[in-house]
Amino acid sequence: MSRSVDLFVRHARQLLTLDGPLPDPEHPDDPRPLGVIPDGAVACAKGKIVALGPTDTVERTIDLAPDALVLDARDGLVAPGLIDSHTHALFVGHRADEFAARLAGTSYAEIAARGGGIARTVRALRAADDQTLVTALEARLARMRAFGVTTVEVKTGYGLDTSSELRSLRVIRAVRDRGPSRVVTTFLPLHAVDPDLRSFPDGRARFLSRVLNETLPAALALHPDFVDAYLDTTGFSVMEARPVLERARTAGLGIRLHVGQFADVGGAELAAELGAASADHLEHVSDQGLRALSSSGVVAILLPGATFSLGQPWPDARRIRAHGVEIALATDCNPGTSYTENLPLMTTFAVRQMGLSIVEAWWAITRAAARSLRRPELGRLTVGGVADLCILDLPCWEALPYVFGSPLARVTVIAGRVVHSTGSVPSTLPATSSGPR
Ligand code: NIG
Ligand code: FE
Repeated sequence: MSRSVDLFVRHARQLLTLDGPLPDPEHPDDPRPLGVIPDGAVACAKGKIVALGPTDTVERTIDLAPDALVLDARDGLVAPGLIDSHTHALFVGHRADEFAARLAGTSYAEIAARGGGIARTVRALRAADDQTLVTALEARLARMRAFGVTTVEVKTGYGLDTSSELRSLRVIRAVRDRGPSRVVTTFLPLHAVDPDLRSFPDGRARFLSRVLNETLPAALALHPDFVDAYLDTTGFSVMEARPVLERARTAGLGIRLHVGQFADVGGAELAAELGAASADHLEHVSDQGLRALSSSGVVAILLPGATFSLGQPWPDARRIRAHGVEIALATDCNPGTSYTENLPLMTTFAVRQMGLSIVEAWWAITRAAARSLRRPELGRLTVGGVADLCILDLPCWEALPYVFGSPLARVTVIAGRVVHSTGSVPSTLPATSSGPR
């Protein structure tokens, strides 16, 4: 069969389709979920994959268009575009002094109570004009593409008054519409109480009522994909968040929730009850909460960057997997608890510190992340599917968490178009490196 191929990626030392079966918690190292094809190739036309398999087989079945781009993976590894399913990437400024204060023993909650924390980034965002926000977010997405990341979930939550939350949503949508990264929009009105209302005795009640009756209805007109709420002792209770989440769900939004970052306040049970797409953080969750997530098919999104930056005990991924819960990994990219854009690095933390297997780690930044965003067509390479992929400077799939810190993507492709390439930057691990192949 011959097709007019406009992008041909060939000679990957390994092509990972991630099109295999769900990882089995009892056999976490079984590589079948990865769909490994040695010396693999992917042929694309008009943003879709038209053929994939061993290079010599694919080469025989395709017809290259005259202006086709042929990329030799030169012993790199080809994988689906990676998916960061939990970020607060719309922010300006930094809070490096708060990190230093935490190192000196001050807690995240104490810093927030003094007017630092989320409130500080809220003030910075409100003071920035639209173009500054667009530029900051676009720069972050560009750096993420250098890690092979093609889809990013971005939350509001540093606006907190109605107009600033709406402005945040508009900026995220504008960046999404310009591309090239795929952006999923999440409206997070219940991130913290608006600092302007905190001095009023009834400030908290006024804030909750405003979110329900004013901010949410206005935000619905901008059609965010998801609604989120921060359920914690430092955030909101199940009782406070429920009306907002139920109204958003009735309006057709998916639900993702911050659950148990500092304490278990019943967020996992609420996520399950509301049919949430994901429950994120989960540093603190009961067995009952995990059973609820499992029976409702809610994806657990672990955020090792936040656990690490806060110096918390690592969640036990094996315990979560033993309950049959699917795990995604995300950066939580934000200026307070996880100032990182490096999604592959999260796999290093997760396999070394949380007990996730390397196979599960790949799944966590591709298929599980895609399912948590209700975009099951993403995070896998399959004939007829979208041509989002990356050529990573890795000698084999086991090296994903092993090589940590450097931007790994030699080339990143979204919808069949090259959106990042390192050009002349030398490989982290040259193809000629000795060691097992
Ligand atoms: O997911 N803790 C709630 N939200 C963020 C932190 C936001 C911030 O500190 O600016 C998180 O860790
Ligand atoms: Fe978060």
